[in-house]
Amino acid sequence: MTTTATKSTNIHWHDGNITREERWKALKCIGCTLWFTGLSASGKSTIACALEQVLVQRGAPCYRLDGDNIRHGLNSNLGFSAEDRAENIRRIGEVAKLFADGGVITLTSFISPYLADRDKARAMHAKEDLRFFEVFVDTPIAVCEERDPKGLYKKARAGEIKGFTGIDDPYEAPKAPELVLRPDKHTVDECVQQCVAFLAKQGILRA
Ligand code: ADX
Repeated sequence: MTTTATKSTNIHWHDGNITREERWKALKCIGCTLWFTGLSASGKSTIACALEQVLVQRGAPCYRLDGDNIRHGLNSNLGFSAEDRAENIRRIGEVAKLFADGGVITLTSFISPYLADRDKARAMHAKEDLRFFEVFVDTPIAVCEERDPKGLYKKARAGEIKGFTGIDDPYEAPKAPELVLRPDKHTVDECVQQCVAFLAKQGILRA
C-alpha cells in the first residue's frame, strides 16, 4: 500500500537565483501542461507522440509523459486500484508541474479516470501560476474496444483483467475540458492540428 501522507520534517524551501520569467525569456519558451485524458486505446499516446514531433520540429521545447512508459519506471510500484491510480496521477501532476516550470510544453497521456485526481493536478498547477489544459480524447468505448491494440479489452471481457477502465472500473469524463478531440471522426494529423491551433490561440505558440 502506498501512502501519500507527508513524512518529511525539518525541510525548508530554497529559492533559486533567477525567476521563472528570466528562465523562460532566456530559453524563449512558455511552459504549460496539456493533460490528455481518455480511455485506454482512445488515441492519447498516438496524438501526444505526433504532437510532440510537430512541436519539436517547430523548435518548441516539448516533452511527453506517457502512462504505460512511466509505469515502467517512476511508477512501477503502482497498480490499478483507485488508490494507486490516484498516486499515479498525483506524481505525474507534480512531475508535469516541474517540467512546465522549466519552460517545457508538457504532454501527459494517462487514462486519469477520476475527476478528483485530475482536478488535483489542475490545482497543483494553478497554485504555482502554471497553465494547465485538460484535453479530453473522447473516443467512444465501442471504438476503443474494436481497436484493442494491446488485446486488453478482450482480456478484461474474459475476466482475465479485473478493474479495467470502461469495463468494470469507471471513467469519469471531464466536465469542462479546454479541448475535446474526436479521433473516431478526425485523423491523428487533424487532432494534432487542433492542438497546435489551440496552443497558438492560448499564446503558447506563435500562430
Ligand atoms: S491510470 O488509470 O492510472 O491513469 P495509466 O494511464 O497510468 O492509467 O495506465 C493505463 C495503461 O495501463 C492502459 O493503457 C493499459 O495499457 C494498462 N492497463 C493495465 N491494467 C489496466 C487496468 N486495469 N485499467 C486500465 N488500464 C490498464
